[in-house]
Amino acid sequence: MTGSREFNQGGDSKKTGELVLICSAVGGVGKTAITANLAILLTKQTLRTVIVDGNLQFGDIALALDIDPVITIKEVVEQNGSQNITEYCLLHKSGIRLLAGPTRPEYAELITADALASATEAVRKLADVVLVEVSPGFTEQNMLLMDKADSIILVTTPGMPALKNTKLMIETLASLGMQNKISLIVNKSDAPSIMTSPDISELFQIERTSFLPYFPKEIAHSMDIGVPLTVGNPKHRFSKQLQKLADQHFSSRLPADIPEKRRIRDRFKSVKHSSKI
Ligand SMILES: Nc1ncnc2c1ncn2[C@@H]1O[C@H](COP(=O)(O)OP(=O)(O)OP(=O)(O)O)[C@@H](O)[C@H]1O
Ligand SMILES: [Mg+2]
Repeated sequence: MTGSREFNQGGDSKKTGELVLICSAVGGVGKTAITANLAILLTKQTLRTVIVDGNLQFGDIALALDIDPVITIKEVVEQNGSQNITEYCLLHKSGIRLLAGPTRPEYAELITADALASATEAVRKLADVVLVEVSPGFTEQNMLLMDKADSIILVTTPGMPALKNTKLMIETLASLGMQNKISLIVNKSDAPSIMTSPDISELFQIERTSFLPYFPKEIAHSMDIGVPLTVGNPKHRFSKQLQKLADQHFSSRLPADIPEKRRIRDRFKSVKHSSKI
């Protein structure tokens, strides 16, 4: 994977990574698929990216990345490990680090809101970007993280139950003064529904709204084999749409010299390409 930079424990502690929460009102809208793929794209752009699986009962980021969760946030809590959090972060071959969720649902209750928040804050010191997937809805854990987050990516799908509950979630976040943190992703946006993409934009009126396409076979297969689509098929329409979203959302986080280097590399690519023709 191109130029991933070193993660170092206890570096410049004043400079913490951007904390991005991936949440939803209802389950099964694609948070895990989006989180795993987004992390791959950010890592490719040389951003040091850590995922925290904050879906404490049934988190499956480890599965989506084919990582064996030999150590998890449960051990961080039991061993008071926030001070040396790197030791609890599992390394994916792309360069992503993962603080995995508990391996059994009954362990979830050990992870209090404060424990999850303090592990996440510790991880932030190691990274440029921390993506936390949380369980659907408002739990005590989620609400504390929402408060601390720099941005909240709210994922929905076009079906009526998801839209109705997403609307309620947006209203609730607005009443808590968090409206400005919200970016909306309408995933599976071209799945059959009476609501079209313009209808959905009209309904929510969220300025930062992105749409991701519906590819059930490809996404399901990528999750089954633990290879995100952005790795297995970076030219796929889903991968390209997500890249656009990553470029828009995270451009300010890219190290200053990276865009120039990428431009040069891309120019070389196009020269090589055209010389074949
Ligand atoms: N863009 C997409 N097109 C088609 N299918 C998708 C897409 N994104 C996700 N899926 C499928 O939707 C299902 C749920 O995806 P995923 O597990 O990522 O959702 P989730 O929001 O993380 O669920 P949970 O709330 O249980 O954590 C999976 O079967 C996945 O393959
Ligand atoms: Mg999930």
